[in-house]
Amino acid sequence: WVRMVTAQTPTNIAVIKYWGKRDETLILPVNDSISVTLDPAHLCTTTTVAVSPSFDQDRMWLNGKEFSLSGGRYQNCLREIRARACDVQDEEKGIKIAKKDWEKLNVHVASYNNFPTAAGLASSAAGFACLVFALAKLMNAKEDNSELSAIARQGSGSACRSLFGGFVKWNMGKAEDGSDSLAVQLVDEKHWDELVIIIAVVSSRQKETSSTTGMRDSVETSLLLEHRAKEVVPKRTKQMEEAIKNRDFGSFAQLACADSNQFHAVCLDTCPPIFYMNDTSHRIISCVEKWNRSEESPQVAYTFDAGPNAVLIAHNRKAATQLLQKLLFCFPPNSDADLDSYVIGDKSI
Ligand code: DP6
Repeated sequence: WVRMVTAQTPTNIAVIKYWGKRDETLILPVNDSISVTLDPAHLCTTTTVAVSPSFDQDRMWLNGKEFSLSGGRYQNCLREIRARACDVQDEEKGIKIAKKDWEKLNVHVASYNNFPTAAGLASSAAGFACLVFALAKLMNAKEDNSELSAIARQGSGSACRSLFGGFVKWNMGKAEDGSDSLAVQLVDEKHWDELVIIIAVVSSRQKETSSTTGMRDSVETSLLLEHRAKEVVPKRTKQMEEAIKNRDFGSFAQLACADSNQFHAVCLDTCPPIFYMNDTSHRIISCVEKWNRSEESPQVAYTFDAGPNAVLIAHNRKAATQLLQKLLFCFPPNSDADLDSYVIGDKSI
Protein backbone atom coordinates (compact mmCIF):
# COMPACT_ATOMS: atom_id res chain seq x y z
CA TRP A 1 0.00 0.00 0.00
CA VAL A 2 0.91 3.67 -0.37
CA ARG A 3 -0.56 6.51 1.66
CA MET A 4 -0.25 9.93 0.02
CA VAL A 5 -1.03 13.53 0.96
CA THR A 6 -0.70 16.63 -1.24
CA ALA A 7 -0.58 20.19 0.07
CA GLN A 8 -0.12 23.59 -1.49
CA THR A 9 1.49 26.51 0.34
CA PRO A 10 2.01 30.07 -0.87
CA THR A 11 5.14 32.04 -0.28
CA ASN A 12 5.23 35.05 2.02
CA ILE A 13 6.90 38.42 1.67
CA ALA A 14 8.28 40.13 4.76
CA VAL A 15 7.40 43.78 5.29
CA ILE A 16 9.44 43.82 8.50
CA LYS A 17 12.44 41.67 7.70
CA TYR A 18 13.98 38.77 9.55
CA TRP A 19 17.76 39.07 9.23
CA GLY A 20 20.09 37.44 11.75
CA LYS A 21 19.92 34.38 13.98
CA ARG A 22 20.69 34.04 17.64
CA ASP A 23 20.71 30.25 17.29
CA GLU A 24 21.67 28.73 13.95
CA THR A 25 20.54 25.16 14.60
CA LEU A 26 17.11 25.90 16.00
CA ILE A 27 16.84 28.94 13.67
CA LEU A 28 15.94 31.54 16.26
CA PRO A 29 15.94 35.14 15.03
CA VAL A 30 17.35 38.31 16.55
CA ASN A 31 14.12 40.22 15.90
CA ASP A 32 10.38 39.81 15.26
CA SER A 33 9.23 39.98 11.65
CA ILE A 34 5.93 40.56 9.84
CA SER A 35 4.92 39.28 6.42
CA VAL A 36 2.05 39.06 3.99
CA THR A 37 1.20 35.67 2.56
CA LEU A 38 0.43 35.64 -1.15
CA ASP A 39 -2.76 34.20 -2.55
CA PRO A 40 -2.62 30.37 -2.44
CA ALA A 41 -3.22 30.19 -6.18
CA HIS A 42 -0.02 32.16 -6.88
CA LEU A 43 3.71 31.70 -6.26
CA CYS A 44 3.36 28.53 -4.32
CA THR A 45 4.90 25.17 -3.63
CA THR A 46 2.95 21.96 -4.15
CA THR A 47 4.26 18.99 -2.21
CA THR A 48 3.16 15.39 -2.24
CA VAL A 49 4.40 13.16 0.56
CA ALA A 50 3.97 9.42 0.49
CA VAL A 51 4.68 6.53 2.81
CA SER A 52 4.84 2.85 2.00
CA PRO A 53 6.41 -0.25 3.60
CA SER A 54 8.15 -0.81 0.23
CA PHE A 55 10.18 2.46 0.45
CA ASP A 56 13.67 1.53 1.61
CA GLN A 57 14.84 5.07 2.38
CA ASP A 58 13.60 8.68 2.71
CA ARG A 59 13.87 10.40 -0.70
CA MET A 60 12.97 13.76 -2.15
CA TRP A 61 12.50 15.30 -5.61
CA LEU A 62 12.46 19.05 -6.17
CA ASN A 63 11.01 20.24 -9.48
CA GLY A 64 11.46 16.68 -10.82
CA LYS A 65 15.13 16.31 -9.84
CA GLU A 66 16.24 14.11 -6.98
CA PHE A 67 17.54 16.16 -4.10
CA SER A 68 19.37 14.89 -1.03
CA LEU A 69 17.31 14.75 2.14
CA SER A 70 20.45 14.34 4.21
CA GLY A 71 20.65 18.08 5.04
CA GLY A 72 20.22 18.84 8.73
CA ARG A 73 17.23 21.11 8.13
CA TYR A 74 15.19 18.41 6.35
CA GLN A 75 16.19 15.85 8.93
CA ASN A 76 15.15 18.18 11.77
CA CYS A 77 11.69 18.71 10.24
CA LEU A 78 11.22 15.00 9.56
CA ARG A 79 12.34 14.06 13.07
CA GLU A 80 10.07 16.61 14.72
CA ILE A 81 6.99 15.47 12.79
CA ARG A 82 7.79 11.78 13.26
CA ALA A 83 7.96 12.43 16.99
CA ARG A 84 4.40 13.78 16.85
CA ALA A 85 2.95 11.13 14.51
CA CYS A 86 -0.26 9.40 15.65
CA ASP A 87 -2.18 6.27 14.67
CA VAL A 88 -3.62 6.32 11.16
CA GLN A 89 -6.59 4.28 10.08
CA ASP A 90 -7.76 4.58 6.48
CA GLU A 91 -10.54 2.04 6.19
CA GLU A 92 -11.27 2.77 2.53
CA LYS A 93 -7.73 1.85 1.52
CA GLY A 94 -7.25 -0.74 4.23
CA ILE A 95 -4.29 1.12 5.72
CA LYS A 96 -3.52 0.91 9.43
CA ILE A 97 -0.38 2.51 10.83
CA ALA A 98 0.29 2.47 14.55
CA LYS A 99 2.05 5.42 16.19
CA LYS A 100 5.10 3.29 16.99
CA ASP A 101 5.48 2.17 13.35
CA TRP A 102 6.25 5.63 11.97
CA GLU A 103 9.88 5.39 13.12
CA LYS A 104 10.41 2.43 10.77
CA LEU A 105 8.58 3.81 7.72
CA ASN A 106 10.32 5.85 5.03
CA VAL A 107 8.77 8.75 3.16
CA HIS A 108 9.05 10.02 -0.39
CA VAL A 109 8.60 13.74 -1.04
CA ALA A 110 7.94 15.39 -4.41
CA SER A 111 7.85 19.17 -4.45
CA TYR A 112 7.24 21.73 -7.21
CA ASN A 113 7.70 25.48 -7.16
CA ASN A 114 5.80 27.54 -9.70
CA PHE A 115 8.42 30.32 -9.45
CA PRO A 116 12.23 30.58 -9.69
CA THR A 117 13.97 28.75 -6.86
CA ALA A 118 16.47 30.80 -4.84
CA ALA A 119 16.02 33.98 -6.88
CA GLY A 120 15.09 35.94 -3.80
CA LEU A 121 11.44 35.01 -4.10
CA ALA A 122 11.37 33.16 -0.78
CA SER A 123 11.04 29.69 -2.26
CA SER A 124 12.43 28.07 0.90
CA ALA A 125 9.59 29.66 2.85
CA ALA A 126 6.85 27.98 0.85
CA GLY A 127 8.90 24.80 0.52
CA PHE A 128 9.48 24.01 4.17
CA ALA A 129 6.05 25.22 5.26
CA CYS A 130 4.45 22.91 2.71
CA LEU A 131 6.70 19.98 3.62
CA VAL A 132 5.93 20.26 7.33
CA PHE A 133 2.20 20.73 6.77
CA ALA A 134 1.98 17.77 4.35
CA LEU A 135 4.02 15.49 6.65
CA ALA A 136 1.86 16.47 9.61
CA LYS A 137 -1.27 15.46 7.69
CA LEU A 138 0.36 12.26 6.42
CA MET A 139 1.36 11.23 9.93
CA ASN A 140 -1.84 12.50 11.53
CA ALA A 141 0.04 14.89 13.86
CA LYS A 142 -2.46 16.86 15.93
CA GLU A 143 -0.50 20.12 16.30
CA ASP A 144 -2.13 23.39 15.25
CA ASN A 145 -0.55 25.67 12.64
CA SER A 146 1.34 27.79 15.19
CA GLU A 147 2.90 24.66 16.67
CA LEU A 148 3.73 23.43 13.16
CA SER A 149 5.26 26.85 12.41
CA ALA A 150 7.90 26.19 15.07
CA ILE A 151 8.87 23.03 13.16
CA ALA A 152 8.82 24.71 9.74
CA ARG A 153 11.06 27.39 11.29
CA GLN A 154 13.73 24.74 11.75
CA GLY A 155 13.70 24.17 7.99
CA SER A 156 13.95 27.86 7.08
CA GLY A 157 13.16 30.79 9.33
CA SER A 158 10.81 32.57 6.94
CA ALA A 159 8.88 29.30 6.39
CA CYS A 160 7.17 29.59 9.77
CA ARG A 161 5.18 32.57 8.46
CA SER A 162 3.76 30.65 5.47
CA LEU A 163 1.51 28.45 7.59
CA PHE A 164 -1.06 31.25 7.77
CA GLY A 165 -2.72 33.50 5.23
CA GLY A 166 -3.13 37.25 5.55
CA PHE A 167 -0.61 39.19 7.64
CA VAL A 168 1.55 37.09 9.92
CA LYS A 169 3.95 37.89 12.74
CA TRP A 170 6.87 35.68 13.71
CA ASN A 171 7.48 36.31 17.39
CA MET A 172 11.21 35.95 17.97
CA GLY A 173 10.58 34.45 21.41
CA LYS A 174 12.93 34.37 24.37
CA ALA A 175 13.20 30.69 25.33
CA GLU A 176 16.50 28.98 24.57
CA ASP A 177 14.76 25.88 23.23
CA GLY A 178 12.79 27.98 20.73
CA SER A 179 9.41 26.90 22.11
CA ASP A 180 8.04 30.48 21.99
CA SER A 181 9.53 31.37 18.60
CA LEU A 182 6.48 30.85 16.43
CA ALA A 183 4.19 32.49 13.92
CA VAL A 184 0.77 33.94 14.68
CA GLN A 185 -1.80 35.36 12.30
CA LEU A 186 -2.35 39.11 12.78
CA VAL A 187 -5.30 39.41 10.39
CA ASP A 188 -6.69 37.01 7.81
CA GLU A 189 -6.57 37.41 4.04
CA LYS A 190 -9.96 39.15 3.89
CA HIS A 191 -8.96 41.98 6.22
CA TRP A 192 -7.07 44.03 3.58
CA ASP A 193 -7.99 42.43 0.28
CA GLU A 194 -7.76 45.56 -1.89
CA LEU A 195 -3.94 45.36 -1.80
CA VAL A 196 -2.37 44.13 -5.05
CA ILE A 197 1.07 42.58 -5.08
CA ILE A 198 3.21 42.83 -8.19
CA ILE A 199 6.62 41.25 -8.42
CA ALA A 200 8.98 42.84 -10.91
CA VAL A 201 11.36 40.03 -11.77
CA VAL A 202 14.63 41.86 -12.34
CA SER A 203 16.50 38.60 -12.65
CA SER A 204 15.40 35.00 -12.30
CA ARG A 205 19.00 33.88 -11.80
CA GLN A 206 19.99 32.21 -8.56
CA LYS A 207 21.26 34.68 -5.96
CA GLU A 208 24.99 34.75 -5.18
CA THR A 209 24.93 34.89 -1.39
CA SER A 210 22.36 32.68 0.31
CA SER A 211 20.32 34.23 3.12
CA THR A 212 21.85 31.77 5.56
CA THR A 213 25.45 32.75 4.80
CA GLY A 214 24.55 36.41 4.44
CA MET A 215 22.88 36.67 7.82
CA ARG A 216 25.69 34.79 9.53
CA ASP A 217 28.21 37.34 8.19
CA SER A 218 25.89 40.23 9.18
CA VAL A 219 25.51 38.94 12.75
CA GLU A 220 29.28 38.61 13.06
CA THR A 221 30.28 41.93 11.55
CA SER A 222 27.46 44.51 11.31
CA LEU A 223 27.02 47.02 14.13
CA LEU A 224 23.98 48.37 12.31
CA LEU A 225 22.32 44.95 12.67
CA GLU A 226 22.65 45.16 16.44
CA HIS A 227 21.09 48.63 16.49
CA ARG A 228 18.34 47.50 14.12
CA ALA A 229 17.42 44.42 16.18
CA LYS A 230 17.45 46.18 19.55
CA GLU A 231 16.25 49.70 18.82
CA VAL A 232 14.50 49.90 15.46
CA VAL A 233 12.51 46.72 14.86
CA PRO A 234 10.71 46.53 18.24
CA LYS A 235 9.16 49.99 17.66
CA ARG A 236 8.61 49.45 13.96
CA THR A 237 6.84 46.13 14.51
CA LYS A 238 4.29 47.79 16.80
CA GLN A 239 3.72 50.61 14.29
CA MET A 240 3.35 48.10 11.47
CA GLU A 241 0.79 46.09 13.45
CA GLU A 242 -1.23 49.30 13.96
CA ALA A 243 -0.99 50.26 10.28
CA ILE A 244 -2.20 46.80 9.23
CA LYS A 245 -5.02 46.78 11.76
CA ASN A 246 -6.22 50.22 10.60
CA ARG A 247 -5.54 49.56 6.91
CA ASP A 248 -3.46 52.74 6.96
CA PHE A 249 -1.65 52.45 3.65
CA GLY A 250 0.44 55.63 4.07
CA SER A 251 2.06 54.34 7.28
CA PHE A 252 2.25 50.80 5.95
CA ALA A 253 4.18 51.90 2.85
CA GLN A 254 6.51 54.19 4.78
CA LEU A 255 7.38 51.44 7.29
CA ALA A 256 7.77 48.65 4.71
CA CYS A 257 10.04 50.72 2.44
CA ALA A 258 12.13 51.95 5.37
CA ASP A 259 12.54 48.43 6.68
CA SER A 260 13.57 47.02 3.30
CA ASN A 261 16.10 49.84 2.91
CA GLN A 262 17.51 49.24 6.38
CA PHE A 263 17.85 45.53 5.75
CA HIS A 264 19.88 46.28 2.60
CA ALA A 265 21.89 48.86 4.54
CA VAL A 266 22.75 46.09 7.03
CA CYS A 267 23.89 44.00 4.08
CA LEU A 268 26.19 46.83 2.96
CA ASP A 269 27.40 47.20 6.55
CA THR A 270 28.41 43.52 6.54
CA CYS A 271 32.02 42.50 5.99
CA PRO A 272 32.45 41.58 3.17
CA PRO A 273 29.48 43.70 1.98
CA ILE A 274 26.53 41.91 0.39
CA PHE A 275 24.84 43.42 -2.66
CA TYR A 276 21.44 41.90 -3.25
CA MET A 277 19.95 44.79 -5.20
CA ASN A 278 21.33 45.95 -8.54
CA ASP A 279 21.02 49.12 -10.65
CA THR A 280 17.60 48.08 -11.91
CA SER A 281 16.36 47.52 -8.34
CA HIS A 282 17.62 51.00 -7.41
CA ARG A 283 15.86 52.53 -10.41
CA ILE A 284 12.60 50.88 -9.36
CA ILE A 285 12.97 52.40 -5.88
CA SER A 286 13.58 55.87 -7.36
CA CYS A 287 10.58 55.51 -9.65
CA VAL A 288 8.25 54.50 -6.78
CA GLU A 289 9.62 57.15 -4.39
CA LYS A 290 9.16 59.88 -6.99
CA TRP A 291 5.61 58.80 -7.73
CA ASN A 292 4.66 58.45 -4.06
CA ARG A 293 5.94 61.95 -3.36
CA SER A 294 3.93 63.42 -6.22
CA GLU A 295 0.69 62.04 -4.77
CA GLU A 296 -1.16 63.16 -1.66
CA SER A 297 -0.25 59.90 0.04
CA PRO A 298 1.85 56.87 -1.02
CA GLN A 299 0.29 54.56 -3.59
CA VAL A 300 2.86 51.79 -3.64
CA ALA A 301 5.23 50.13 -1.16
CA TYR A 302 8.37 48.33 -2.29
CA THR A 303 10.34 45.66 -0.53
CA PHE A 304 13.33 43.58 -1.63
CA ASP A 305 14.45 40.30 -0.11
CA ALA A 306 17.81 38.60 -0.61
CA GLY A 307 17.85 39.27 -4.36
CA PRO A 308 17.28 42.06 -6.90
CA ASN A 309 13.55 41.41 -7.56
CA ALA A 310 11.12 44.08 -6.44
CA VAL A 311 7.99 43.15 -4.54
CA LEU A 312 5.59 46.04 -5.06
CA ILE A 313 2.47 46.33 -2.95
CA ALA A 314 -0.10 48.64 -4.49
CA HIS A 315 -2.81 50.33 -2.45
CA ASN A 316 -5.55 49.07 -4.78
CA ARG A 317 -6.24 47.97 -8.37
CA LYS A 318 -6.09 51.50 -9.73
CA ALA A 319 -2.65 52.09 -8.19
CA ALA A 320 -1.50 48.68 -9.50
CA THR A 321 -2.55 49.56 -13.06
CA GLN A 322 -0.79 52.93 -12.86
CA LEU A 323 2.29 51.25 -11.44
CA LEU A 324 2.48 48.77 -14.30
CA GLN A 325 2.16 51.60 -16.80
CA LYS A 326 5.01 53.47 -15.10
CA LEU A 327 7.21 50.37 -14.99
CA LEU A 328 6.57 49.62 -18.65
CA PHE A 329 7.47 53.22 -19.48
CA CYS A 330 10.68 53.17 -17.38
CA PHE A 331 11.72 49.66 -18.44
CA PRO A 332 10.47 49.18 -22.00
CA PRO A 333 10.42 45.53 -23.12
CA ASN A 334 13.44 44.46 -25.20
CA SER A 335 15.44 47.50 -24.14
CA ASP A 336 18.78 47.31 -22.27
CA ALA A 337 17.00 47.85 -18.98
CA ASP A 338 13.99 45.62 -19.45
CA LEU A 339 12.76 43.36 -16.68
CA ASP A 340 12.56 39.56 -16.99
CA SER A 341 8.84 39.62 -16.33
CA TYR A 342 6.15 40.97 -14.10
CA VAL A 343 4.14 38.64 -11.96
CA ILE A 344 0.76 39.70 -10.71
CA GLY A 345 -0.53 36.80 -8.79
CA ASP A 346 -0.46 34.02 -11.36
CA LYS A 347 -0.36 36.27 -14.40
CA SER A 348 3.09 36.88 -15.90
CA ILE A 349 3.56 39.48 -18.61
C1 DP6 B 1 15.50 38.55 3.45
O1 DP6 B 1 14.28 32.27 5.83
O2 DP6 B 1 15.63 32.21 3.70
O3 DP6 B 1 13.76 36.99 3.01
O4 DP6 B 1 16.34 30.89 8.01
O5 DP6 B 1 18.56 30.79 6.89
O6 DP6 B 1 16.57 29.70 5.81
P1 DP6 B 1 17.06 30.84 6.71
O7 DP6 B 1 16.79 32.18 5.92
P2 DP6 B 1 15.50 32.65 5.11
O8 DP6 B 1 15.72 34.22 5.20
C2 DP6 B 1 14.79 35.12 4.69
C3 DP6 B 1 15.34 36.48 4.75
C4 DP6 B 1 14.54 37.54 4.05
C5 DP6 B 1 13.66 38.29 5.04
C6 DP6 B 1 12.40 37.62 5.51
O9 DP6 B 1 11.81 36.78 4.79
O10 DP6 B 1 11.97 37.97 6.62
